[in-house]
Amino acid sequence: MPGVSDRLPVFPWDRLDPYRASAGAHPGGLVDLSVGTPVDPVPEVIRAALTAAADSPGYPTVWGTPALREAIAGWVERRLGARGVEHRHVLPVVGSKELVAWLPTQLGLGPGDRVAFPRLAYPTYEVGARLAGAEPVVYDEPTALDPAGLRLLWLNSPSNPTGRVLSPAELRATVAWAREHGVLVVSDECYLELGWEADPVSVLHPDICGGSFEGVVAVHSLSKRSNLAGYRAAFAAGDAAVLGELLAIRKHGGMMVPAPVQAATVAALGDDAHVAGQRARYQARRSALRTALTGAGFRIEHSEASLYLWATRDEPCWDTVAYLAGLGILVAPGDFYGPAGERFVRVALTATDERVAAAVERLRS
Ligand SMILES: Cc1ncc(COP(=O)(O)O)c(C=O)c1O
Repeated sequence: MPGVSDRLPVFPWDRLDPYRASAGAHPGGLVDLSVGTPVDPVPEVIRAALTAAADSPGYPTVWGTPALREAIAGWVERRLGARGVEHRHVLPVVGSKELVAWLPTQLGLGPGDRVAFPRLAYPTYEVGARLAGAEPVVYDEPTALDPAGLRLLWLNSPSNPTGRVLSPAELRATVAWAREHGVLVVSDECYLELGWEADPVSVLHPDICGGSFEGVVAVHSLSKRSNLAGYRAAFAAGDAAVLGELLAIRKHGGMMVPAPVQAATVAALGDDAHVAGQRARYQARRSALRTALTGAGFRIEHSEASLYLWATRDEPCWDTVAYLAGLGILVAPGDFYGPAGERFVRVALTATDERVAAAVERLRS
């Protein structure tokens, strides 16, 4: 019997292992700028909330505590500018990767259905389509897609890997087109708080969705903005019919956010100070790496937001990976995100100040 994993692409990160080994042999040690995993401490206000909720012997609910739903709805209104957000418009989830990977399945999509995502994209959109047995489709411009059989359209602004931010006009046009064709838009906005040269806008903003959440859902994660990748804290917000259906399914299937993580999420969404502090750290690292990379002959494209610099030396990406590994610096090859990335590398800002300074020094000499 063929395994479900046969439907999936080869797990690409294993291909980096030899370069990790050679970069790690650098006398100054490895500078790992490959995976975008947070390295700074979990803010104290969040740890305190997690600890205070440590005595949680009972089952949590799939929909979360009223306090959590209130915190999510309040944040979506305050930070994203959405209006009229009620509890039925929010759903806490265990990590946004898990949602991206299982959403097509949970929406009941399968053979004959199509799921679209950007040509250069976070690989899990394709994985989710394949797990469901649906057809993955890439786009350059979503409104140019053939709407036949198209059930789910992923947006990702700011983008992983390119850091590109979609303009309000582009978002508006896509939402209008998708509504006209009855296609659900799910917007992965997990880097929304990390705009540098652009101010990312949510699909839930009334300027984009026209004040109705019909046919639109935004996905948010606390992994990047609050250094909580280890907690698996995320949520979806938007169309109440879609989220109600997901809630109904998940009540049967589990996928409950652990109670201490729910409490930690309430604290994280109620505190803007740690987000500003973390932003400042990333901004300094970004600026240092950007200057060093351009000084070393790299060209940076897009990268106006997110945790990455999308960089090229106008050569095959694996040559660039090898060159940087020679300096003890590990980056992600652009072809992990689709063949269109084959001449780029993705440089993550998620290393300590000390490691970033080491990378900058090596790129200078
Ligand atoms: C575009 C995008 N979406 C979702 C995720 C998953 O984040 P998490 O599962 O930590 O919420 C990532 C992680 O790198 C990402 O880059």
